[in-house]
Amino acid sequence: MLISEKLNKKINDQIGHELEASNQYMSMAAYFEGRHLKKFAELFRKQSDEERAHAQKFVQFVLDAGGTVKIPAIPAPKMDFASAEEVVKAALDWEKVVTDKIYALVDLSISENNHIAREFLGWFVSEQLEEMSSMEQLLGVVQMSGEKNLLMLEAYVSHS
Ligand SMILES: [Fe+2]
Ligand SMILES: [Fe+2]
Repeated sequence: MLISEKLNKKINDQIGHELEASNQYMSMAAYFEGRHLKKFAELFRKQSDEERAHAQKFVQFVLDAGGTVKIPAIPAPKMDFASAEEVVKAALDWEKVVTDKIYALVDLSISENNHIAREFLGWFVSEQLEEMSSMEQLLGVVQMSGEKNLLMLEAYVSHS
């Protein structure tokens, strides 16, 4: 086995966090779909797919490392949002939490001198930079435009 039991367990937890994020983004996409903001909905559906792919990447890593995959119970996503700004803010806050969780995994892999795991996790560190910066930019433009002008942002979103 190429990972410790402790790291194996933490990665299993992370599989849960990625799936939770996937469900959360799907719920956010439904919120936008309900407001006829098709491009926002599409963007969040795409994010949902990406989070699922992240979960799959972790599953594959555990298998490749000879560990045991255990998918934890996934908490229900938040379904009620008062505004687009609230949605994007929640998404950004969540990405920040996930970044800290990835950092903790990197720290653990370093403390265990597990360079295979550290190398694998490097991809996720870069991915978090991309996801946090794009969500931060989206929050900026949503705040600038205000709720009434979201339709005009659809073009922006479709190119981001
Ligand atoms: Fe992710
Ligand atoms: Fe993410």
